[in-house]
Amino acid sequence: MSLYNELLKKVDKENLPSHVAIIMDGNGRWAQKRKLVRVRGHEQGSKVVKRIVETASNLGISVLSLYAFSKENWNRPREEVDALMQLLHHYLLVESRNLIKNGIRLSIIGDLKSLSPKLNELIADVCARSKKNTGTRVVIALSYSGRYEITQAVKEVVRDVQRHRISVDDVDEQMFGQYLFTRGLPDPDLLIRTSAEKRISNFMLWQIAYTELYITKTLWPDFTKEEFLKAIISYQKRERRFGMTGDQLSRRPDSFRGYSLNE
Ligand code: IPE
Ligand code: IPE
Ligand code: MG
Repeated sequence: MSLYNELLKKVDKENLPSHVAIIMDGNGRWAQKRKLVRVRGHEQGSKVVKRIVETASNLGISVLSLYAFSKENWNRPREEVDALMQLLHHYLLVESRNLIKNGIRLSIIGDLKSLSPKLNELIADVCARSKKNTGTRVVIALSYSGRYEITQAVKEVVRDVQRHRISVDDVDEQMFGQYLFTRGLPDPDLLIRTSAEKRISNFMLWQIAYTELYITKTLWPDFTKEEFLKAIISYQKRERRFGMTGDQLSRRPDSFRGYSLNE
């Protein structure tokens, strides 16, 4: 049996993460290790995107979010930024047919106005064409920053208060979430970061409050569908406590029963 099928048997289909988010990092180092220009790493990385989207879709994951380009990445050398934009354009153009055929619904989140009109046109077209699909929702974060997203949401909330659409007391966590780019989506259950970096790099700051993190040394261009399954298996072994005690979750008799502050 192939390793993939062996791992697949270990995945609990009843306990899949609804939303998997990935910080696809390490393209540059992958290329440098091979004495190639960084762009070659990005090219290889975009092939991996295709594989992982297919795997998530076959597994029946509801939402897959991919961090493709941060707002901070605009500060990279001009040639690298241009090449990345071209690659994104190419990916959307070439892959859209496959994505749509596989029932995938595509959304792009981020500061879209900073992208070229041509790329915006293509994004609008692909998103519209996949809108009625009911398969995996693939969310690509492009020119994205979590702080930017939150700041935009705050501005919109303030505007809606000024327009008397809502009152200040209506604002709670649930409502605030509806002002974010990810409105309507569940928060990520699992966040994978490749290439060993132990940081969030401004990704989905609000949404990952209780997300399980999986950090792997593997560089994104080397990431495989097998490792994707390994991340899910690791996630499924964890106890998500959301602030409660382990006893509460497993409904073991409460070890603090009978305890009172007066004793
Ligand atoms: C991730 O790979 C892709 C983007 C950030 C666009 P990097 O380009 O950050 O690769 P490293 O971290 O330099 O290896
Ligand atoms: C995060 O990677 C952004 C993406 C993967 C798109 P970076 O390579 O930009 O993150 P830092 O700079 O190492 O934190
Ligand atoms: Mg990086």
